[in-house]
Amino acid sequence: MTVWFKWSKRPVRKKIRMWNFKEIESAAKEEIQAIKDYHALDFFRLKYLSRKGLMAQIYASLSTAPAEEKPAVGKGANDLKNLLTQLIDAKQKELQGTQSSKGSQEIFDVTMPGVHSEIGSAHILTQTMEHICRVFEGLGFVVQDGPEIETEFNNFTALNIPVDHPSRDAFDTFYLNQSDPKRKDRNLLLRSHTSPGQIRVMQEHAPPLAVVIPGKVYRPDAVDASHSFMFHQIEGLLVDQDIKFSDLKGLLTASCQRFFSDDIKMRFRPHFFPFTEPSAEVDISCYLCKAKGCSVCGRKGWLEIMGCGMVHPKVFEAVGYPTGKYTGLAFGMGVERLAMLKYGIKDIRIFFENDVRFLRQF
Ligand code: PHE
Repeated sequence: MTVWFKWSKRPVRKKIRMWNFKEIESAAKEEIQAIKDYHALDFFRLKYLSRKGLMAQIYASLSTAPAEEKPAVGKGANDLKNLLTQLIDAKQKELQGTQSSKGSQEIFDVTMPGVHSEIGSAHILTQTMEHICRVFEGLGFVVQDGPEIETEFNNFTALNIPVDHPSRDAFDTFYLNQSDPKRKDRNLLLRSHTSPGQIRVMQEHAPPLAVVIPGKVYRPDAVDASHSFMFHQIEGLLVDQDIKFSDLKGLLTASCQRFFSDDIKMRFRPHFFPFTEPSAEVDISCYLCKAKGCSVCGRKGWLEIMGCGMVHPKVFEAVGYPTGKYTGLAFGMGVERLAMLKYGIKDIRIFFENDVRFLRQF
């Protein structure tokens, strides 16, 4: 049988006995010693171990061996194959060592176009949340985090929304099929507002306190231009002795003017929230049309941006504050709403579509 050997630069045709393993072994050793790069090593591997390589030919020819030689020839073939694999592995390791220490051997094509990575930036909602938090930090508030998975107690009961109270509907949410064994009202849910953050803060700290709590909230709303099943809120809570409704009005007016502009006007409309009394909804004069009336404000010149009120005594009771000692104000604003107004965005869905053409404008 004739086999082509290419271990010298010019291929030489050698007549060998197919099962002359010693001869193949010494030729392979000599050849691999001369190998200096991965390319040549690949060639070596193909030549010996590929589907049409020498080992494959040897195995195919085993059936022609005389019966008494078969076991020895078979073993010889296996040994040779193992040896070749070891030689390749060893060479591979050797090359790894030399090629990484000798970086100059790597092929570097200076004409290749460079790898361009885009520099990202914070999402417009993140920027808006940060902006609002900075405004409140400037007014002495501390920024606090709260979990998105909440207990029924924190999201409802402690906020004076008992199990069968109709206003649970307004804050309906997604329930998890799990409960937290450590807590009262143990069902777990995705918080439907950031107000449970108030409960957590008050359970851990005594007044005076002033916090803002930004984050995601969830409601099973059908998605349209102004609704999403997930959106962002920023909760605010200030508790001390002698906090009055006029403090709430002054604080919200000052913060909105800082966020939008000094000429913005505020309107407080009486409203109902179970966890504040009295409660109000806050409108601002439309920032886009300067209160002249446009499609965004529905030609009214006013836009609703948040709910607020004085903390209900039942909430203080739920967190264990002494009766009658403290008063507090609370507010919750929708971040998407504020961003839409500030930047003239007409559809809430665009925030979540991840379209860089939109996102890179901010
Ligand atoms: N949690 C209320 C909502 O999601 C907003 C709010 C917060 C109202 C704090 C009053 C006080 O609509």
